[in-house]
Amino acid sequence: MSATVEDIGWLRSADGAAAVARAADLQREGADLVGGLARLRAEVGAGHAGPAWELARLRARARPAFGADADVLFLTAETLEQAGRPELAARRATRLLTDVPGPAADLGCGAGTDAIALARAGATVLAVDRDPVARALTAANAAALGLAARVRVSDADAVDLVAAASDGRVGGCPAATLDPARRAEGRRQPDPDRWSPPWSTVTALLDRVPAAVVKVAPGLDHDRVPAGVEAEWVSVGGSIAEALLWAPGLATVARRATLVDRGGHVHELAAPTDPGPAPTGPVRGWLHEPDAAAIRSGLVALVADALGATLVDPTIAYLTSDAPADDPWVTSYRVAEVLPFGVKRLRAELRARGIGRVTVKKRGSPVEPETLARQLRGDGDGRAVVVVTRVAGAPTALVCDPPHGA
Ligand SMILES: C[S@@+](CC[C@H](N)C(=O)[O-])C[C@H]1O[C@@H](n2cnc3c(N)ncnc32)[C@H](O)[C@@H]1O
Repeated sequence: MSATVEDIGWLRSADGAAAVARAADLQREGADLVGGLARLRAEVGAGHAGPAWELARLRARARPAFGADADVLFLTAETLEQAGRPELAARRATRLLTDVPGPAADLGCGAGTDAIALARAGATVLAVDRDPVARALTAANAAALGLAARVRVSDADAVDLVAAASDGRVGGCPAATLDPARRAEGRRQPDPDRWSPPWSTVTALLDRVPAAVVKVAPGLDHDRVPAGVEAEWVSVGGSIAEALLWAPGLATVARRATLVDRGGHVHELAAPTDPGPAPTGPVRGWLHEPDAAAIRSGLVALVADALGATLVDPTIAYLTSDAPADDPWVTSYRVAEVLPFGVKRLRAELRARGIGRVTVKKRGSPVEPETLARQLRGDGDGRAVVVVTRVAGAPTALVCDPPHGA
């Protein structure tokens, strides 16, 4: 059961804080849900034990992303699931406030990740949400992090605020961030018209407030990006973390890909217009798998150009060239063999090479990688990466060496 506004009020009290600390101790000691909750109920009362137990559990879950902040944050399972990564919220806040230092509106604040990032970047923030629990969480979190004086939480409908936006301001603010709810009943909502606020509010905000940024689904159709708006895809550690639309006042290019590598370094690719696909050519000695942000942003052609590489198929984002690449935008694999795809043939090839364990990667193929990896398992000591894809339209398997360091 999710926390109510009353629960959040109690959790913020000294008794609530003590109960959450006790729940965290029990969880660290390995107490299971039934036993731990029973002990907590006896100590803090039946009505308070559940919310305290749940908050302790959510803070532990939030710790890898939120660091020490997690120990004082107020969360529900739903708002934690909706929350973006704080380091990306900070990056966004800095860019949003470059020319317009604030005040800034957070139009649907959830647990307050963006409002907090904006406040930490120096803005005063108007944080609105139509959900009373979200408002209570944002207020509690701003206070817990010493930012209460900078964050004003308000009950308002973002659709109405954007509809009333004028003179480049929304809710009186010259800068705004919007992160529509893109899930309904626990499922991803692929249709932007059914996000909350819906797509019409997204485009209206981008049109009316020059210093605005909207978080969108990474799978957003490129054709939807309004003219003059910059679309940016951000990956962290190889996976897509977020996609953003920057309003014309902040846009500097049409497409941007941003990669945050495992060491936290940021790399960027950008193009003033859609560069179109990279040229296609035969498979050469090395296969390169581009980073997800380069693929989603449609900027693989820039990577190909930098590496002197070509696509293996016009519809597939694998590149090939004569040399390995020391480049954050790709992972390179030496190609040992190229075969028409077939499990029997592949198995025979792997046996002949003394390969017993494979990692399967696929693109443009219906194979299920884990199932195929099991089918290809053998006694040999060697390891390989098997890439199942299309090459010039034909289903193909590439037997590759594992990348260095794998
Ligand atoms: C994806 S969450 C925001 C998460 C937040 N940016 C974070 O990182 O923690 C979307 C929020 O928008 C709120 N919301 C949805 N439609 C709204 C509307 N029309 N007006 C105000 N808030 C709305 C939801 O209640 C939810 O809290």
